[in-house]
Amino acid sequence: MDTAGKPITCKAAVLWEFNKPLSFETIEVAPPKAGEVRIKVVANSTCHSDLHVIDGALWEKRMQCPLILGHEGAGIVESVGEGVTEVQAGDHVIPLWNPQCRECENCKSNKTNVCSKLRDTQNAGLMPDKTTRFTCNGKTVYHFMGCSTFSEYTVVSDLSICKINPEAPLDKVCVIGCGISTGYGAAINSAKVTEGSSCAVFGLGAVGLSAVMGCKAAGAKTIIAIDINPDKAEIAKKLGATDFMNPKDLGQIPIEGVILQQTGGRGIDFTFECIGNAATMKSAFYSCHNAWGVCTIVGVTPPTQELSIITLAIVAGRKLQGSVFGGYKGKDDVPKLVEQYMNKELNIDDFISQNIKLEEVNEAFDTMRQGKLARSVVKFE
Ligand SMILES: NC(=O)c1ccc[n+]([C@@H]2O[C@H](COP(=O)([O-])OP(=O)(O)OC[C@H]3O[C@@H](n4cnc5c(N)ncnc54)[C@H](O)[C@@H]3O)[C@@H](O)[C@H]2O)c1
Ligand SMILES: [Zn+2]
Ligand SMILES: [Zn+2]
Repeated sequence: MDTAGKPITCKAAVLWEFNKPLSFETIEVAPPKAGEVRIKVVANSTCHSDLHVIDGALWEKRMQCPLILGHEGAGIVESVGEGVTEVQAGDHVIPLWNPQCRECENCKSNKTNVCSKLRDTQNAGLMPDKTTRFTCNGKTVYHFMGCSTFSEYTVVSDLSICKINPEAPLDKVCVIGCGISTGYGAAINSAKVTEGSSCAVFGLGAVGLSAVMGCKAAGAKTIIAIDINPDKAEIAKKLGATDFMNPKDLGQIPIEGVILQQTGGRGIDFTFECIGNAATMKSAFYSCHNAWGVCTIVGVTPPTQELSIITLAIVAGRKLQGSVFGGYKGKDDVPKLVEQYMNKELNIDDFISQNIKLEEVNEAFDTMRQGKLARSVVKFE
């Protein structure tokens, strides 16, 4: 049946209220307007940034429920709106929560990968024309991160999409949509980990584990993987970690104290915070070498959270920086990461802990709250 130009009725996971589970609803997805693309989502994996929203931690006055989460997806273009030239029906695509307009000051600069074009509407859960394409029982439903891929169909801006190799398995490469790119690129692009260096990664979800993988690919000599869940040691070592530390095993001594002791007081060359907790951000910062250590913050905290550090700890040259989507420009780099996976140069399979149905996603987020597993991939039928 030709669905182009008509609304599509389908299944989606809807967040009606913060701090409540997702509910599984039949929704209507309007056709794409000019400059927009409607996608049949084939797979979407869970990211802690979705969970932050469910748990109310990323709530901002401008973010409104009901909304459809999901920003780590892959699918097939169903139809395109007027003026879309980059993709057509049938193309395999990954939606980009960090768009690439190629026109804004940020896109034109090689100093950042963070496009500013859609920021305000995207943060408000709206399409660029300030409306939404979703309704549920006649009620407006908002978008999330320009993707909303916990739905069988979604509509995204053509700035927020990239075409990928049609041979790539969508239920694997969906993780490139956020987790893998974010951690791997944090090590390779943002920190620029050097050969023979020492690294420490705090938090071993898909983001932290891919940072471990990035440190290994960059030739780091020592990679300390840190998590309060001892079960993460095995997969971290498989991906390249040389050591595992559980802060809960250290008694009263803070982890940075132990790291400094073990490095003869020198500290680590590159540290990464992949949890989203101000206390572990401080630990990651103080674990760095006092003159040249670089601490990269990847984890996300509530927007009002502040980080306080001793001023003297930074004056000798320790650096504190952030990283968004691993420093990758989505349209330029995501298709290349897919090729790296296809050429067996990038491991994704080990990050996929389980395949689930959409209806099992609340349980998958429960396991994520407990720090278990890496990614749960929803496969739409
Ligand atoms: N900057 C970006 O572009 C970007 C992109 C994606 C995700 N994120 C953020 O990265 C963070 C990680 O995401 P994820 O999906 O990998 O999460 P996850 O929940 O899968 O993994 C987090 C890990 O941290 C561990 N942990 C929790 N508290 C800890 C502590 N005190 N000490 C040590 N380990 C601890 C957990 O056991 C778990 O293994 C989140 O805050 C997410 O919002 C940022
Ligand atoms: Zn831009
Ligand atoms: Zn994410």
